[in-house]
Amino acid sequence: MHAIPKGSTVAVIGSGAMGAGIAQVAATAGHQVLLFDTRPDAADKAILDIGKTYARLVEKGRMGAVESDLARERLKRISSLHEAAGALLVIEAIVENLDAKRALFAELENVVGEKAILATNTSSISVTAIGAQLKHPGRLVGMHFFNPVPLMALVEVVKGLATEPGVADTVSATADSWGKNPVHARSTPGFIVNRVARPYYAEALRLLLEQAADVATLDAVLRDCGGFRMGPFELMDLIGHDVNFSVTNSVFAAYYNDPRFTPSILQQELVNAGFLGRKSGRGFYRYGDNVAKSVPHVEASGAKPAAVRYAGAPGCMDAIVERLRVAGIEPLAIEAAPGLYCEGAAIYLTDGRSATERAEMDDHRDTILFDLLLDASGAARIALARADQCSDRAWSAAVGLFQAAGFAVTRLDDVPGMAVMRTVAMLANEAADAVNQGVCSARAVDVAMQKGVNYPRGPLAWADSIGLQQVVKVLSNLAATYGEDRYRVSPLLRRKLAANPHGARFHAA
Ligand code: NAI
Repeated sequence: MHAIPKGSTVAVIGSGAMGAGIAQVAATAGHQVLLFDTRPDAADKAILDIGKTYARLVEKGRMGAVESDLARERLKRISSLHEAAGALLVIEAIVENLDAKRALFAELENVVGEKAILATNTSSISVTAIGAQLKHPGRLVGMHFFNPVPLMALVEVVKGLATEPGVADTVSATADSWGKNPVHARSTPGFIVNRVARPYYAEALRLLLEQAADVATLDAVLRDCGGFRMGPFELMDLIGHDVNFSVTNSVFAAYYNDPRFTPSILQQELVNAGFLGRKSGRGFYRYGDNVAKSVPHVEASGAKPAAVRYAGAPGCMDAIVERLRVAGIEPLAIEAAPGLYCEGAAIYLTDGRSATERAEMDDHRDTILFDLLLDASGAARIALARADQCSDRAWSAAVGLFQAAGFAVTRLDDVPGMAVMRTVAMLANEAADAVNQGVCSARAVDVAMQKGVNYPRGPLAWADSIGLQQVVKVLSNLAATYGEDRYRVSPLLRRKLAANPHGARFHAA
């Protein structure tokens, strides 16, 4: 399918943060861009700001001076929608309100040519509903950009029930020609990213509620062990709790109160208090010139391990053993449950049970668990949890062992599934459900989470690398511990495992 031709006219309606970003990208890609806004001067201001951005890009050598002048000249404010008559693509980025969007498209439909495509940048309203009253709803499609538009590569191309496939394909090819990564999605609450990302916040809030650790420690674990660019609490502070809480509530309501999306009373409290995050000077963290930076918890030095034994090599175990070897400790391979053993301590990757529960089930009190690592060879931190019945001697040996391998050791309280494993398992579960329900493909969900929210790995590719068996085990154990529907396993995960118990994957190896 072809993109709309370079040089053709694109109209952007709404010249706020998103509209201005979209206009910049379209003009840079060679389109004549018309900007409209009901707010006097908003379009002029957007064009002025885009001009300044281009000038900065020229200064930094990232754009040619001539190219920048030409792109700037392609931007034009219009003061009536009628001036958009010649546009082949109209992108709406006005206020997030169904009636306002419907009224706008009803007017636009009578202005533009019959081949013109109408696109909405809505982040939460049903594309089907926006198009429902149009004479030709087939030409209305979602074109969901991410903020800031010039920097974020993802575009969710969202089909409503009536959207013609050719229209979605043209928009996708157009986004691609603008240097973006388009993915197709069916219009469902939250589309892909705003749905699949919910557990990143929800599990963190749950961990905090259950006192697994303080916010700075949990953020550090998700960053340093999970490889996420920002920890969930600093990210929520950046997004703003009013915005984040309202997205959570709208997805929760739209899925008829599915417990997977249950909002957190902790975030409700922040909103009640007006602690909205960075923008209000206080959220989970405090902001300002004289505020001391919160530091994550790190264990004091443990005992240097003498004899270390290990069994199995599930994922990261190989890399940890290699790090010990580099440190001059030669672990001895034994036949046992996959794990590390030293000074009576049995140390396992979390499987969704707490260390305390596992210690009781294994009848081995000195049980210690470690959390999932994105990159066990390079990670600077590891999170451990000890069973309530674990001795101080065994704990000190486990801490010393990981310190010898070059990790800073952070203790989490003994919550089931720990932090990274539980978060990644829930992200993969939600991603699997989105695929199972035909919202998008497995490839699309992984691209969306990497390009839309900068995840270090797509959740399904991550599940592949952990092993689907382990992911299902973690989720099943969480479901058993909590007895909540929130942790129910996606039918697609179960089906894949049943078809291929040891080699199930979402993507080819
Ligand atoms: P904004 O408030 O910065 O800009 C909206 C602009 O639309 C304002 O300049 C306003 O004057 C104008 N406007 C309102 N009603 C209008 C109408 N009937 N006709 C013409 N102009 C009108 O909002 P923002 O953040 O740019 O969001 C715009 C849309 O993009 C919303 O639907 C939002 O949900 C969506 N979106 C926002 C994202 C974000 O991170 N801010 C991300 C992705 C989508």
